[in-house]
Amino acid sequence: MSATAAAPSPQLPAVGPVKKICCIGAGYVGGPTMAMIAHKCHDIEVKVVDINAQRIAQWNSDTLPIYEPGLDEIVKGRRDQNLIFTTEVDQAIREADMIFISVNTPTKTFGVGAGRAANLEFIEKCARKIAEVSEGHKIVVEKSTLPVRTAEAVKAILGEATTGATFDVLSNPEFLAEGTAVDDLLSPDRVLIGGEREEAIQALVDVYAQWVPRERLLTTNLWSSELSKLTANAFLAQRVSSINSISALCEATEADVDEVAAAIGTDSRIGPKFLKASVGFGGSCFQKDILNLVYLCEYFGLPEVADYWQQVVAMNDYQKRRFVHRMVRTMFNTVSDKKIAIWGFAFKKDTNDTRESAAIYVCRDLLLEKARLSIYDPQVTKEQIVSDMEAVFQNGDQELSAVSRQLIENNIEVVSDAESAAKDAHAIAVLTEWDEFEKADFRAIAEQMKKPAFIFDGRNKLKNLSLEDLGFQYHGIGFSR
Ligand code: UDX
Ligand code: ADP
Repeated sequence: MSATAAAPSPQLPAVGPVKKICCIGAGYVGGPTMAMIAHKCHDIEVKVVDINAQRIAQWNSDTLPIYEPGLDEIVKGRRDQNLIFTTEVDQAIREADMIFISVNTPTKTFGVGAGRAANLEFIEKCARKIAEVSEGHKIVVEKSTLPVRTAEAVKAILGEATTGATFDVLSNPEFLAEGTAVDDLLSPDRVLIGGEREEAIQALVDVYAQWVPRERLLTTNLWSSELSKLTANAFLAQRVSSINSISALCEATEADVDEVAAAIGTDSRIGPKFLKASVGFGGSCFQKDILNLVYLCEYFGLPEVADYWQQVVAMNDYQKRRFVHRMVRTMFNTVSDKKIAIWGFAFKKDTNDTRESAAIYVCRDLLLEKARLSIYDPQVTKEQIVSDMEAVFQNGDQELSAVSRQLIENNIEVVSDAESAAKDAHAIAVLTEWDEFEKADFRAIAEQMKKPAFIFDGRNKLKNLSLEDLGFQYHGIGFSR
């Protein structure tokens, strides 16, 4: 990594309209994004490839691997027409004019930059595979969120191709949010395309222009595009941590964080969105991208900037811990052997994704207090919940101690509805804002719970239901009553 400008490669051939796309990585980003391109551009053949055969089989089945409202119809409408899911990676790369790299870039867990830097192993493997099998000219598009200057490494690897193939490299970060991916893709605030050669940028602009208004197609240099994605996520996460920090102060001062958010949100310079206090942000992007930003700042000798952004993550960790402390304190300083219903395990509603979900950390801390957890989430499987809990208890060598394994086996049950989770429970903890929780039969639930029946609402989802009238002790985030 260096900060010197890379010169565009000379003697690249002319670029024609894109006819065949290959997307490497059939995940939460690659799957929906490619489905939308296929849906909107019937004249382009889109192949989504993955080394994970099970995932590809799911994309080809009636039950898609990801839950995303509206996605099923779009996929089923174009699948096996101009939208193909396959494990034939080499062939798809060879045939394509444009190749999207949409693989995962988790935080490194080992070696230099462990716990902060992005693990670019999968990106590099893709670049090497593209270099190995490509012929002719290809436009390679970075879709995954990447540290700024990654394109330099991708270009260097592609430049070593011995097949005579040539490449343009573009950065086209994806801004969709899970749970609203289809709407975000249909009508994005903007599409960002960074590159070096006008012709290559234009080829991708022409794909999006088939449904996105031209004024929303922003073009920049490669490095601005890469950095804009990290910056957007850092700013969004910062807003959540900012309002969450104020939620702690609200609880101490009888202010109400939702009223404060509404009041400041009317200032057009601040705006109303992304000011919902919660048990903490989760998801595959926010924490990973901020840690990555922190690492980059340190790498480039900017420790003050690094410390500034690190605090956004520190505040989020504090918010999750604070939630559990409040539960324990309120429940007479012990939750040992008490049954607690966990409503929601996904990191937000309308997704089955649990990556970095606040629920994982809240459940871990409650288990360490020896609580018994009965977990319900409308979209997350039992296997996923158990695997997340095992992972969070593993040590640095990814080993699970016998004690932790027993705790998970004995103190966690996963059930198939919210009411069963609450039966005989001392408390309900709402950790994901699923709409169905508002519609639960709280009168019946109150009757079946131990008294006092506590509700700790990490999303303020049930705030307006007057649950006190039904005998509950209700505690939300950022207010007291
Ligand atoms: C985010 C970015 O929004 C998206 O542009 C980027 O492409 C990927 O990362 P995502 O992680 O899917 O998307 O969901 P998002 O809606 O941003 O929510 C992230 C987390 O913040 C969730 O846990 C959510 O519950 C939490 N959140 C969000 C709050 O706690 N309060 C809010 O006001 C908003
Ligand atoms: P994201 O949220 O960024 O989409 P996911 O983890 O959901 O991340 O998806 C990334 C996908 O990329 C996974 O299905 C993984 O199997 C796939 N993948 C990773 N490396 C490669 C590779 N070298 N070739 C093909 N697919 C890959």
